[in-house]
Amino acid sequence: MSEIIPVGSLSREQAMAELERLKSLIEDANRRYYGEDAPDISDSAYDALKQRNLAIEERFPDLKLAASPSEKIGAPVSETFSKIRHEVRMLSLGNAFSDSDVLDFDARIRKYLGLGPQAHLDYIAEPKIDGLSLSLRYEKGALIYAATRGDGETGENVTNNARTVGDIPERLKNAPDILEVRGEVYMSHADFDDLNRRQAELGQKEFANPRNAAAGSLRQLDASVTQSRPLRFFAYGWGAQSEPLSDTQSGAFERLASLGFKVNPLSVVCDGPEELLSHYREIEEQRALLGYDIDGVVYKVNDLDLQARLGFRSTTPRWAIAHKFPAEVAHTILEAIEIQVGRTGALSPVARLHPVTVGGVVVSNATLHNEDYIQGRDSKGNPIREGRDIRVGDWVEIYRAGDVIPKVRDVDLGKRPADSKPYVFPTECPECGSPAVREEGDSVRRCTGGIICPAQGVEKLKHFVSRGAFDIDGLGAKQIEAFFNDRDLPVREPADIFTLEQRDAENLAKLKNRDGWGQKSAENLFRAIQDRRSIPLNRVIFGLGIRHVGESSATLLANRFGSWQAFEQAMDSVPDDHQGPGWDDLLSIDGVGPVMASALVDTFHNPDTRAAIDRLAGFLTIKEASAPTASDSPVAGKTVVFTGTLEQMTRAEAKSRAEALGAKVSGSVSAKTDYVVAGPGAGSKAKKAAELGIEVLSESDWLALIAPND
Ligand code: IVH
Repeated sequence: MSEIIPVGSLSREQAMAELERLKSLIEDANRRYYGEDAPDISDSAYDALKQRNLAIEERFPDLKLAASPSEKIGAPVSETFSKIRHEVRMLSLGNAFSDSDVLDFDARIRKYLGLGPQAHLDYIAEPKIDGLSLSLRYEKGALIYAATRGDGETGENVTNNARTVGDIPERLKNAPDILEVRGEVYMSHADFDDLNRRQAELGQKEFANPRNAAAGSLRQLDASVTQSRPLRFFAYGWGAQSEPLSDTQSGAFERLASLGFKVNPLSVVCDGPEELLSHYREIEEQRALLGYDIDGVVYKVNDLDLQARLGFRSTTPRWAIAHKFPAEVAHTILEAIEIQVGRTGALSPVARLHPVTVGGVVVSNATLHNEDYIQGRDSKGNPIREGRDIRVGDWVEIYRAGDVIPKVRDVDLGKRPADSKPYVFPTECPECGSPAVREEGDSVRRCTGGIICPAQGVEKLKHFVSRGAFDIDGLGAKQIEAFFNDRDLPVREPADIFTLEQRDAENLAKLKNRDGWGQKSAENLFRAIQDRRSIPLNRVIFGLGIRHVGESSATLLANRFGSWQAFEQAMDSVPDDHQGPGWDDLLSIDGVGPVMASALVDTFHNPDTRAAIDRLAGFLTIKEASAPTASDSPVAGKTVVFTGTLEQMTRAEAKSRAEALGAKVSGSVSAKTDYVVAGPGAGSKAKKAAELGIEVLSESDWLALIAPND
């Protein structure tokens, strides 16, 4: 290594070379630190490089490089964000759309906690900021990283960008050693207007609304772009923490404010649902004057011990709900009705509209739900819209609430063209010509083509590579469509993805020589596919695209069965008539009902589908799963039966707490039962337990057993 010459003694030539060398060292260090999360030099060594770079630039200002590291914040432009796994999952909120939904929310909570309708119960009501959520991790008061929500478990590392946001402190005084602050990044109306004006002047794309602008600005690979965008941040919660901030939500807000965060000034503690609703109306009245977008009011149980007791459903807390503002409405002409065929064969009517702006967003497509909806009936055959049907050529009313797909709500008969005809829903699949049938009780007409229907095939594959499933970099919906119909390298089923590289090697028409591909992108794709051969069980189950099995159900199943072998065996153990212990076992999973269970079992029993699943599984190493909180719990994997009257918690609470700790709650006592928890009035079940020699616990014994031992 050459000797380090003091800055004061450098010649011009030496300074020029040294600036280049420092730039490359700093960029490497940035990439390893921010892009790959794997720094290879110490913070002080990094600081020394930057100091030296600055000192040389000060001595030779004209030598300063065009893209000098002294002007960059953190990481250079990288191709993707690195990923950060959230220590505590980032969840979303259930929605309430009406006063009665809010009353139901309150009643559910009281029932769960065993509180009467008159008992005092504090909530906090706070505006629901329309931005994007961000998790900020502080250790010993220093900002360590900032991560987007992502899929709730893993987000994107946007630390550099977050550091440019004025409302996000770099350092906290008197904070817990570990504190993850969660909140919403947003853009004010005034800043949004300025930004769009600047974008227009520069001939660049304008943003549809402040939320898109905030998201687009935070997710910039070049942090200097984020720095030029005026983002703000409201804190509304927390993830991991080494000690609690307070014993109430309102107290935690005060603490967050004293740590230097902005918390929303319109947050108010309310006693009971009536006060919540009146605060909702106050906020709704002020909405237009706030200067930033909100799309509802969030209600949270104020007492943090009660929040902990209430816990979570699969993706939402029981202790909070978002009361949304009514949707925004517009009127336009329905130009056509198109039928899309989904991965389960469902024929979905889509309205093609004359473009119209709804709440700041241009809308040209909207959902029409299903054929009954078009005809003016609900699923039970009762009239909706007073029986008015919807026809091509009609003036329709469309609405959109938040992020959801716009919907056609009503039709203006006064403007209906005289020659219009009722819409006739197709009885054949528009994609493969197979009959499209409606099963009894199903509101949806489905293509019966199964695997011969290209639309179903393509949609299944798109689902397979989607974010919650295999999420293969470089293989999105667009690429799947191209591969599906490819002559040389067709991908017709998931297993074909994993033979792509081999087939490409044996083929003369190589991927790298095609439009849109090159040597590097083809190699990257093959590597991404290889990487995904080792994959968590929940992603595989979700990726199969089985009807009724969404992301959270897939996680439930994965946590319950643990391994692919156990899951497959469980599917095999159920006979075609859906009876017997295997079937009961499936139904005993909280969140799995007979409809989902049938879909699962039928998928595995269909010989063609099963063969395709087996072909896929042959390429994979499927990682085992366990309930995240269950690993070190004393009741993980145990089967427990509750019987008699429980006095310290409700049945629902007992069941969900036990399940959260990895136990299985069953309704009947058998040789497989590990514990019977018996309250007063316990009868035959406690007796049977005694006969079988199973341990019978009182409610207090049980609570002592599951209490955290800290
Ligand atoms: S609490 C576990 N409070 O709304 C619950 N969320 O629809 C965590 N949001 O992902 C969320 N304002 O991005 C909470 N005052 C507020 C909020 C808020 C906006 C967003 C947040 C969340 C989404 C759920």
